[in-house]
Amino acid sequence: MDGVIPSKKNFIQLVYDQSLYLSRMLHDLHDMTNVENRQIKYDLQKVNIQDYVLNFYNKTKLDVEKEGIIFKYHDLLSDTVEELIVFIDPLRIEQVIVNILKNAKRFVKEDELDLVFNRFYKSKNQNQQQNGSGLGLSISKEIIEHHHGMIGVESKEGEGSCFYFMLPLLEGM
Ligand SMILES: Nc1ncnc2c1ncn2[C@@H]1O[C@H](COP(=O)(O)OP(=O)(O)OP(=O)(O)O)[C@@H](O)[C@H]1O
Ligand SMILES: [Mg+2]
Repeated sequence: MDGVIPSKKNFIQLVYDQSLYLSRMLHDLHDMTNVENRQIKYDLQKVNIQDYVLNFYNKTKLDVEKEGIIFKYHDLLSDTVEELIVFIDPLRIEQVIVNILKNAKRFVKEDELDLVFNRFYKSKNQNQQQNGSGLGLSISKEIIEHHHGMIGVESKEGEGSCFYFMLPLLEGM
């Protein structure tokens, strides 16, 4: 039977994957609508941005590395003496960072780089299950702009992409 008609198990898996995909998409659309309509309640707090990023890194590191990905963090501001305070909703900013990291994992696979030149090679990441709704970055943009910051990307073909965002310091606001 295999190869002629998808087995029942495969079929159920397929329906399950599709429903996960749809439910994620609905969730994202809902999020997007709320963010756009300013219906999201931002819980703004004074946060030391260096502590915040380091904390995030420490609690995420193990999970990311479990998947065989090298995950490094450089604090380019470690020489700064004064505290760098931003006024942010920590969970929403985390959502932005997580989306950027998930994108990097999904779309930039180093182990695939020498395969992409093979004829008929299709990224194994391009299946339905891995495909997102395509809303992550636009939601991220709304969130960052709500914080009076900016988000952007610099990209060179064949070299990769650098996603970044900036947040204003509290004293500057
Ligand atoms: N690091 C990256 N390298 C290459 N392409 C990227 C990268 N990040 C995003 N993209 C491209 O931008 C598109 C939009 O990204 P976005 O985060 O908005 O949506 P998504 O990841 O597809 O879905 P979602 O975030 O809702 O799960 C991606 O589908 C991908 O084509
Ligand atoms: Mg995404």
